[in-house]
Amino acid sequence: MIPVVAIDGPSGSGKGAVGFAVARRLGWHYLDSGAVYRALGFAALRAGIDPDSEGAVAELAKTLNLQFVEDLSGGMRVLVNKEDCGLALRSEQVAAAASRVAAHPAARAALLERQRAARCAPGLIADGRDMGTVVFPDAALKIFLTASAEVRAARRYRQLKETGFGGTLPQLLAEIQERDERDSRRAVAPLKAAGDAVVLDSSTLTLTEVIEQVLALVHSRVGVVPSV
Ligand code: C5P
Repeated sequence: MIPVVAIDGPSGSGKGAVGFAVARRLGWHYLDSGAVYRALGFAALRAGIDPDSEGAVAELAKTLNLQFVEDLSGGMRVLVNKEDCGLALRSEQVAAAASRVAAHPAARAALLERQRAARCAPGLIADGRDMGTVVFPDAALKIFLTASAEVRAARRYRQLKETGFGGTLPQLLAEIQERDERDSRRAVAPLKAAGDAVVLDSSTLTLTEVIEQVLALVHSRVGVVPSV
């Protein structure tokens, strides 16, 4: 069985940066499942579909032409119906649409096999909300990466500032709390740690420290060491 390491947690916990770096170090594949939901949210906004309309969103999810293309700098470009989403994929507007479309069971079901198809040799690092609970319940290692809402908002604020974001920190904190609330309370695949997950709080850790802790867990639990 191809090993999967699931890294779940709320937005701003650092899952993306940690997952991507750990995958690089191990020479494994990387699935950013948040980008899959963001792409669906982006496509709904583009098509003028109400993100709260389950039937229309589920239809869109079934037919979504989604491509992940590695660019020359090692980053990942996301193409939705051949259109490069660019930085729009990371905007708060698309994040909010993603969180709404992600609340529909039929849309989640339509995206399940797409995510499972990312399980390729020699291994997969999968990051999201339900990687360890729903998509890869047989993951060799499950990590729930978290941090306080204040620390996560401050991180997002720094990130967004670099892309010319004009909002304020309190506004961002409120948006993050609203999104956490919606993600945690939804009936299907809510944001919660799998019973067998290792909970890692990154509030007082640097990115490098979290990466090293995850690699140590991969070594002790999965028996795999970094190739670089
Ligand atoms: O992780 P990221 O912030 O990119 O995710 C955007 C949104 O997609 C989340 O707020 C969540 O609602 C949804 N999502 C999800 N399940 C996942 C990954 C993301 O519902 N596995």
